[in-house]
Amino acid sequence: VKKIGVMTSGGDSPGMNAAIRAVVRACHYYNVECVGIYRGYEGLIEGDFIKLNARSVSNTINRGGTILKSARSQEFRTKEGRAKAHQNLLNEGIDAMVLIGGDGTFTGGMVFNDEYSFPCIGVPGTIDNDIYGTNFTIGYDTALNTVVDVIDKIRDTASSHNRLFFVEVMGRDAGFIALNAGVGAGAEEILVPEEDLGLDRLLESLKRSKRSGKSSSIVVVAEGDKIGKSVFELANYVEENLPEYEVRVSVLGHMQRGGAPSCFDRVLASRLGVKAVELLLDGKTNLMVGLVDGKIETTDLEKAVKGKHNINRELLRVSDIMSI
Ligand code: F6P
Repeated sequence: VKKIGVMTSGGDSPGMNAAIRAVVRACHYYNVECVGIYRGYEGLIEGDFIKLNARSVSNTINRGGTILKSARSQEFRTKEGRAKAHQNLLNEGIDAMVLIGGDGTFTGGMVFNDEYSFPCIGVPGTIDNDIYGTNFTIGYDTALNTVVDVIDKIRDTASSHNRLFFVEVMGRDAGFIALNAGVGAGAEEILVPEEDLGLDRLLESLKRSKRSGKSSSIVVVAEGDKIGKSVFELANYVEENLPEYEVRVSVLGHMQRGGAPSCFDRVLASRLGVKAVELLLDGKTNLMVGLVDGKIETTDLEKAVKGKHNINRELLRVSDIMSI
């Protein structure tokens, strides 16, 4: 391997820059060239490349977002799109790639690897933490801290007005952000797609907490939770059935993806980025690097995409006990 391409693809996450930086600097350390690919697979199809050297990534470890930009490419899903991408790689002399992103990114890498035997290593970067083969994805820790910080602020106003707040957080189909931030922020109830709490139990629990003397409450709802059609309908339903509550909804949205990465995410990104380059130089392909029980481990890309990363159910129990 003489020239490694690096891209960020899918939803951005804090720490992606630290991962790019690690890849670029590891390439420099091992004397291989590094090329940045803009806007993920879109930039690959358009041949939108930039040569990167050790200094190109100065002052980026602390920056949120991704300096290489990101996109969700439809064209790469087509054979023609992938053929263009492959031709661009050949023209540029790139002979291996590091793909930083989530399951969509890795699926692209797998298909590409199958069709062209092109060496690819995945680095998990998404706030959702929904990837099998790593305890933590890059950006998740920062997103948790952002959400807890915001819920603390919502708690101030909730308690001033004796209100019940439904706070919707991101996570796509997974409840990692909701569950962990919910416990961290002291939420009354946490609704995650992995566990169907049921409307009756939710009403019961809210009634109980009113009786026990609580004046305000926070319910954290994962965007993928199916208990209500939407968090607004859920809030209406609760307000209709529990008139003793004055209800408000706050949808946190994309602010959860922004901001400076936490130290944890920077360190994780640095470790995974370096390992990705080392694996490619070792002739490995079609793997994702992850952190499992404190150690850097590899998982087949296919397993990383198809496997299920389970939430920690013990936290649901802890949350139940805490909300007494
Ligand atoms: O995967 C990251 C994520 O932020 C999810 O939590 C969310 O469902 C989705 O991306 C939003 O995607 P977009 O930015 O394309 O609206």
